[in-house]
Amino acid sequence: MKQTTDFLKMKENGEKIVMLTAYDYPGAKLAEKSGVDMILVGDSLGMVVLGYESTIPVTMDDMVHHGKAVKRGAADTFIVVDMPFMSYHLSVRDTLLNGARLIQETGAHAVKVEGADDIIIANISALTNAGIPVVSHLGLTPQSVTVLGGYKVQGKDAEAAQKLMEDAKKCEQAGAFALVLECVPKQLARAVTDSISIPTIGIGAGVYTDGQVLVYHDLLSYGVERVPKFVKQYENMNEMALRGFNNYLTDVKLGKFPEDQHSFTMKESELISLYG
Ligand code: KIV
Ligand code: NA
Repeated sequence: MKQTTDFLKMKENGEKIVMLTAYDYPGAKLAEKSGVDMILVGDSLGMVVLGYESTIPVTMDDMVHHGKAVKRGAADTFIVVDMPFMSYHLSVRDTLLNGARLIQETGAHAVKVEGADDIIIANISALTNAGIPVVSHLGLTPQSVTVLGGYKVQGKDAEAAQKLMEDAKKCEQAGAFALVLECVPKQLARAVTDSISIPTIGIGAGVYTDGQVLVYHDLLSYGVERVPKFVKQYENMNEMALRGFNNYLTDVKLGKFPEDQHSFTMKESELISLYG
């Protein structure tokens, strides 16, 4: 299993880091089997698995519940768990208690937090100093979607780009060991990647980041109808699953399932009593 220091080495060596989200046991098993470098138990859980409109309703209990399942499926992979909405904003004490709970109860290795306000930066330091590795997340930060006015590309003008660059450096200085960049122009992602020593992991951030992350259900077209421009849909699970369910339904209606091979039998001689 890779360690935080391995991800720094991968950046130095120009070896791309591959991160994939997972939310449950079967998904984590497949993710681990595929050989991805890191699994993220993202709070995208709220949208792709729990059916919420945003990540904001996701709770600490949700993250613990799903984090545990992922760990059971991927015992040999580095796992990052998202700290959910408002679990790392109130105070250093709350942040440490929540961070510790996520790590201790799930067995994950690191947490991820969005933003770089003064309090977040202080909390990144506190978590790191307490022995909890932190991944930062800048650009489009979905927990702030209401303030941002929707899911839009961030850092497009000079001022916003400069701010994001400064925020990235603050996250690095505070001790974050990696930085997720979501939905930013590829030029900005490249400049940030070149300006900090910790690896950048992009989603909708172009090809110049040190790694990439995609949401499991987006990549597989599994349960999602429309996906953002930055997603590549490698498979179509919707079609596969629907085909399977439709065939099952038809077979049962027509009496074609179950067949003999799916059925158990008893000896003829034991049958007498059943029909009197
Ligand atoms: O919750 C999530 O899946 C994420 C990734 C999109 C980075 O935060
Ligand atoms: Na997230």
